[in-house]
Amino acid sequence: MTFAAPDSAARPLYALSPDEYAAWQEDATEMFRAWASAMGFSGASGQVVLLPGPDGQPAAGLVGLGSDEDRARGRFQLASARAALKGGTWRLETALAGEAREEMALGWLLAGYSFERYAAAPAPAAMLIAPEEVNAARLEAIAAGEALTRDLINTPARDMGPAALEATARDLAEEFGASCAVTTGADLAEGYPLIHTVGQAAGETRAPRLIDLRWGEAGPAVTLVGKGVCFDTGGLNLKPGGSMGLMKKDMGGAATVLGLARMIMATGLDLRLRVLIPAVENAVAGDAFRPGDILPSRKGLTVEVNNTDAEGRLVLADALALATEEPTDLLVSMATLTGAARVALGPDVVPFYTDDDRLADRLGEASRRVADPLWRMPFWAPYEEMIEPGIADLDNAPSGGFAGSITAALFLRRFAADARRYLHFDMYGWTPSPKPGRPKGGAGQGARALFDLLSEGL
Ligand code: BES
Ligand code: MN
Ligand code: ZN
Repeated sequence: MTFAAPDSAARPLYALSPDEYAAWQEDATEMFRAWASAMGFSGASGQVVLLPGPDGQPAAGLVGLGSDEDRARGRFQLASARAALKGGTWRLETALAGEAREEMALGWLLAGYSFERYAAAPAPAAMLIAPEEVNAARLEAIAAGEALTRDLINTPARDMGPAALEATARDLAEEFGASCAVTTGADLAEGYPLIHTVGQAAGETRAPRLIDLRWGEAGPAVTLVGKGVCFDTGGLNLKPGGSMGLMKKDMGGAATVLGLARMIMATGLDLRLRVLIPAVENAVAGDAFRPGDILPSRKGLTVEVNNTDAEGRLVLADALALATEEPTDLLVSMATLTGAARVALGPDVVPFYTDDDRLADRLGEASRRVADPLWRMPFWAPYEEMIEPGIADLDNAPSGGFAGSITAALFLRRFAADARRYLHFDMYGWTPSPKPGRPKGGAGQGARALFDLLSEGL
């Protein structure tokens, strides 16, 4: 997922709005003009036409951008062109500048992703020379981070258990000179009772663990916590088959924070980064935790388990508690936490929570700028009582079924209370039907917006 080296033989690829197409026609050769109009090109969003040279080979290409509104709606306009171009090396000709140009170039890179671990899936062969005025290395780092996230989510649980997630974090640490510590066994049971208890039914080879990666010496302290439930059966409150089918993606938060960490390290952002991943499998066995159990936690709060399928908030709670034991400028959690988030906003738009209005505004702006859709939801304090069960400090699955994403976020906030700023994403992590630059399958969400914000400085 990189750009091609400069090549004087590269063919021009004209990205045009309908107005720009009219101007292009005036300057084009008679042959190109006639061909483009015979092919019905109008500059509408998503159109791609190859213009033949005298030898019958494509000599230039046209990509329709549509209106400004289409651009906002479509995201990554150039991405849909990549497959249609079949092959060859291209250079982009566009009037779009600044962020719009960056986004187009990134769309091209993201459309180069294919998941090839289990079957050959030929990646698009067409290459693009890095357009002028874009930060090519930065875009390549973003694309590589997103590709890592997608690969991790797409890999089935059989090959992406807690140990494989740990191996990924260790590899990443080694590549970028980060440190990586992992807590397991008796130390985990002692220091992180919730992580241990949720993961203990998964057996020895898939045992629970806490992954702790650190990188960077100076700048603000940023800690990213990702839900690493490598498979979520629901536990004894077993999910029905239809709901369990996609649960290999329940480590989507972990995959996304690792992809974001990769972006941060590859571009050398000026910050002290920490990544915490509680990696577990929510399995069914004789030693599984049970509905009605009351569990201790690292922070000291007790939790009544009213549904073993609300496991994500349990493992995150211990990781958040650890994170707040040292001063942190920004604490972030990313998690495929609730079905309620998907019901409210669908698979594309991710709800996020924070009490910091300025952070929320900046994140909203970044989200629009980099076409990474996010929407703020409230830490609605009056719902706190819903997560108080009476015989323990907290209830992991309030009855009533109201505001599922909010009550989960409030639960996490109890464990992040000591953080200076806390930001939580209730993500989906999956593209259910393919769109330009976003094939069906695993998807990083929120990472690009957060990376943009962190690049500007906290
Ligand atoms: N991993 C699921 C949430 C999920 C489901 C995310 C489907 C994306 C798609 C989570 O562990 C879960 O099962 N949550 C329960 C919580 C409930 C029992 C309080 C849910 O949302 O139904
Ligand atoms: Mn669950
Ligand atoms: Zn889950």
